Amino acid sequence: MKVAVNEQQLRAEIKKWKEEGLTIGLCPTMGFLHEGHASLMAASAASCDRTVASVFVNPTQFGPNEDLESYPRDFEADCRLLESKGVDLVFHPEPSDMYEDDFCTYVDVDVLSKTLCGESRPIHFRGVCTVITKFLNLVKPDRIFFGKKDAQQLAVVRRMVRDLNFDVEVVGCPIVREPDGLAKSSRNTYLNDKERQAALILYKSICLGIELVEAGERNSEVLKAGMLDKLAEEPMADVEYVEVVDGSSMQPVETFKEGDLVAMAVRIGTTRLIDNFTAGENDIKAG
Ligand code: PAF
Repeated sequence: MKVAVNEQQLRAEIKKWKEEGLTIGLCPTMGFLHEGHASLMAASAASCDRTVASVFVNPTQFGPNEDLESYPRDFEADCRLLESKGVDLVFHPEPSDMYEDDFCTYVDVDVLSKTLCGESRPIHFRGVCTVITKFLNLVKPDRIFFGKKDAQQLAVVRRMVRDLNFDVEVVGCPIVREPDGLAKSSRNTYLNDKERQAALILYKSICLGIELVEAGERNSEVLKAGMLDKLAEEPMADVEYVEVVDGSSMQPVETFKEGDLVAMAVRIGTTRLIDNFTAGENDIKAG
């Protein structure tokens, strides 16, 4: 496995593969990798000749009071996991390699970026779309892989790719959960034992939402109320939102239908966690 730390090294490797006619999969990450990320690498390795993973904590997607500085980092452990998953090349630039001091060009997907997480993180998706655009231009992958835990990110990137005619297939991979149901996230490491236990309430609320849907409930307000009641059982849970939205536009819907998304953001202590489920997709089982 090779490591490229700047644009020149990355482009040199990509050029060779393109000349050989090989297909390329790209798995963008911010590092501190877990099995959720590993599933992206596995999906890429299964469908592409070469897999590139980026490990880059992207400063432009963090707001002023967010966890950019404290975001967990362990590049050596990441490399061990990436190598074991058959990744061919890791792109690990410094922020200064990605953003010149006078950088001022951003990609901003309107409408979809404003709801859900966009309400409390107004510049977040602009930062994500900007860095993904840069990665797409650098790597020119055939496929790019994202986890469905970040469902809004996936929808926003899909829309950007469609609207700006990027020649890449966007692949969404199922949420990977801990054996007890908590969705895997690098931010889970922020949780102390008590908070880790309390964080299970997200999964319990998601399970209740799925049960309600399976029992035939389609009214968004009723779904939300049930899930909020469940979240209220955990005193440490501070709910930012529970919303039912169209799976493509991320706009609220009154009646839940195939493809729609039920998403939540909840703070446990100072840690902000997200989770979701999509109508018609059975990727909820833990473990
Ligand atoms: O999901 C993430 O880890 C990040 O938002 C991404 C896609 C790597 C962009 O920085």
